[in-house]
Amino acid sequence: MSDFSPFPADFLWGAATSAYQIEGSPLADGAGPSIWHEFAHTPGRVCNDDTGDVACDHYHRYREDTELMRTLGLNAYRFSVSWSRVLPEGRGRVNRRGLDFYERLVDALLECGIQPMLTLYHWDLPAALDRLGGWLNPNSADWFVTYAGILFRALDDRVKLWVTLNEPWVVVDGGYLYGVLAPGQRNPYAAPIATHNLLRAHATAVQAYRAVGRHQIGLVVNLEPKYPASETVEDLNATLRADAYFNRHYLDPVCLGSYPPELAEIFGAAWPRFPDADLDFIRQPLDFLGVNYYSRQVVRHAPGVWPLEVAGVRQDRQAHTALDWEVYPQGLTDILEWVASRYGPLPLYITENGAAFYDPPQADSAVDDPLRQRYLRDHLRAALAAMRNGVDLRGYFAWSLLDNFEWAYGYSKRFGLIHVDYATQQRTLKASARFYAEVIRARGAALLADGAEG
Ligand code: FCB
Repeated sequence: MSDFSPFPADFLWGAATSAYQIEGSPLADGAGPSIWHEFAHTPGRVCNDDTGDVACDHYHRYREDTELMRTLGLNAYRFSVSWSRVLPEGRGRVNRRGLDFYERLVDALLECGIQPMLTLYHWDLPAALDRLGGWLNPNSADWFVTYAGILFRALDDRVKLWVTLNEPWVVVDGGYLYGVLAPGQRNPYAAPIATHNLLRAHATAVQAYRAVGRHQIGLVVNLEPKYPASETVEDLNATLRADAYFNRHYLDPVCLGSYPPELAEIFGAAWPRFPDADLDFIRQPLDFLGVNYYSRQVVRHAPGVWPLEVAGVRQDRQAHTALDWEVYPQGLTDILEWVASRYGPLPLYITENGAAFYDPPQADSAVDDPLRQRYLRDHLRAALAAMRNGVDLRGYFAWSLLDNFEWAYGYSKRFGLIHVDYATQQRTLKASARFYAEVIRARGAALLADGAEG
């Protein structure tokens, strides 16, 4: 291997997924329903009324999928555990068969030389706990730490990278403020409480891990840099509000011990005064931070737009994905540098990055996805630029390994490096997967090659 490789030899090259999005068989072997199972089965909630009942059938095909990861040369894989497989009622009785699935998965990964990164909570709260108020219940931190402890005891001998929560911002924004994701509440009074309880749950689990765990634990947040549409005071203030709401909302309390002051302004009477002791507790030292990055937002002041008075300005001259997210690789460099300077020094991982594009089927059943390939190349270059500017980046996880159930969009949007034919469960490597494999094989050299221009 060339010594001129731009990435360190121990860099993690991974892909990411989550339980409800790929596993299928959500009630198999004694599992209880999750809020996503119930939400998807409520007519009108998910595009085409798609559900995760079958998804990628990864619950049965995990060995094949692990072999595919090996083929790509991945040395890491980020997945999540379904809480209600392990604890069908969310607390109380442990379902051994649910836990066994994750033991088998972890063993299969390790046999393939792939390091697991395990996310404890990627949005699929046990439905039984939602009936008790879910993240609005002050006991939710205790429920979470009990669940986390079961996983720590079962798997810390083999899992070295643990994540408490995936994107708490989305859990609250989609699940409690706008109601477009499970559990579908639309209540500005609920949102700050759910936020606070998620942060208490995160901190309780980190603290518990210090007592029993021997490896590393962190948090995954989604970040989206905000740029002002103009230099007017209104737009600059709107940009600060958007940044506070989106980017500092969770990281300030976790890393600095306080909520950004803009949140009280945004939520008004709905923003409670939280006990100082809670904020001291929430600030538990982390071993790493995971950043999910997809796009940026150019912000203008938009009076009357509830609750932020902010609107995004579409950048018509830029490329957009099938979800209409602007493709903006520079934003990844910017946000990594911002995290490192505001919250560092802290080891970072890019725990998700990727794009939905329509990949037209071809006669020879190959899947050529030049837009995704370019997205991947340009974002890896952007990550490298941040590393060269001193950011301590330890790994990159593409979202996603497989096409999968994209939440409220169902199966209509495909993010995979690997195409899934949902009728047959046939997996096909897309051109982007082959490109990624080549990048990994030569530790990044393919990013610099002339052939990658375009
Ligand atoms: C992130 C989620 C992930 C996936 C991607 C596209 O917000 O963590 O599950 O849906 O977006």
